[in-house]
Amino acid sequence: MSWDLRSPLRYPGAKRNIAPLIEKLLIDYNYTDRVFVEPCCGGASVSLYLLEQEVVSKVVLIDKDPWVASFWKMLFFHTKHLLQDIQNVEVSVETWEAMKKKEPKTMREKALYCFFFNRTCYSGILKGGMIGGRAQASKYKIDCRFNKNELLARMELIASRFSSKIKEVRVGSVFNVLERAELEEQEDIIYYIDPPYVQKGEKLYPHYFHKKEHLRLKQTLEELSRPWVLSYNDHPDVLDMYCSNASLRHISLEVLHVADRARPSKEWLITNFPNLKAEQVLNELIQWSELEHLSADQQETCTHIETGAL
Ligand SMILES: C[S@@+](CC[C@H](N)C(=O)[O-])C[C@H]1O[C@@H](n2cnc3c(N)ncnc32)[C@H](O)[C@@H]1O
Repeated sequence: MSWDLRSPLRYPGAKRNIAPLIEKLLIDYNYTDRVFVEPCCGGASVSLYLLEQEVVSKVVLIDKDPWVASFWKMLFFHTKHLLQDIQNVEVSVETWEAMKKKEPKTMREKALYCFFFNRTCYSGILKGGMIGGRAQASKYKIDCRFNKNELLARMELIASRFSSKIKEVRVGSVFNVLERAELEEQEDIIYYIDPPYVQKGEKLYPHYFHKKEHLRLKQTLEELSRPWVLSYNDHPDVLDMYCSNASLRHISLEVLHVADRARPSKEWLITNFPNLKAEQVLNELIQWSELEHLSADQQETCTHIETGAL
């Protein structure tokens, strides 16, 4: 399995490592060849992976963060301009500070800002500050995650392989998307939601959820009859919110996160897939996690899997 098409955005809580599991769920439940709608797309690692595996027919990417949505729009629909801007930007402390002082106005500027700060801030987090700090005294310098040639080549490949499969990219709220989902005329849609983390979200993303938004998401999903998969960081509030609904199923995984590589943490997958064959899926997933399916990169991820009703 090749990871050459992995997301060019570094994202706290990126789901690249569990994407093969979501692929497996889609295959097991005959939800392949569908329109995959990702309304908290961030680095879009699951969508990219499913496109690479040709498991979904089309993808819709939505994020509340206009920088993120602009990045994906420019990458897929105005590739040359984005690549040109990235090629031309000088990765230096001076550029970083000058850009920090200026608010990007156009979609093109927002896309460049998104990419530039994502690759020059600690863990891809804007609030994390510049890698190496102003003094650049650390062994990690501002450009240590900015291998221009490799990143440009990867983005060109992603755009050339997938642009035709991107149905839409836009700025939007997950709530608007899900609350209108029942009205969608198109039947073959599947929703994948990877919301900002409970509690830690504020530190990680410019757009995050307060408790009331986490609750609103839960209420919205409980009313949604279309198939959906939700991923969450392991937090007691997540179980509190979802455990009262016996019709939902969960899969729990241990994952190492980019923003916190030192400590593995648990990640929940929750779904409304009907007739979840828990026993069968459990066995298959255990085999899957033990087998060669996992590249070295992924092996750090799935050290433990369990499934069942919440
Ligand atoms: C956990 S990250 C997604 C990471 C992504 N799954 C990946 O693999 O890179 C959550 C994303 O939700 C976005 N977000 C926050 N509030 C939102 C809202 N109300 N509607 C849509 N997106 C939102 C954030 O901007 C962030 O990009």
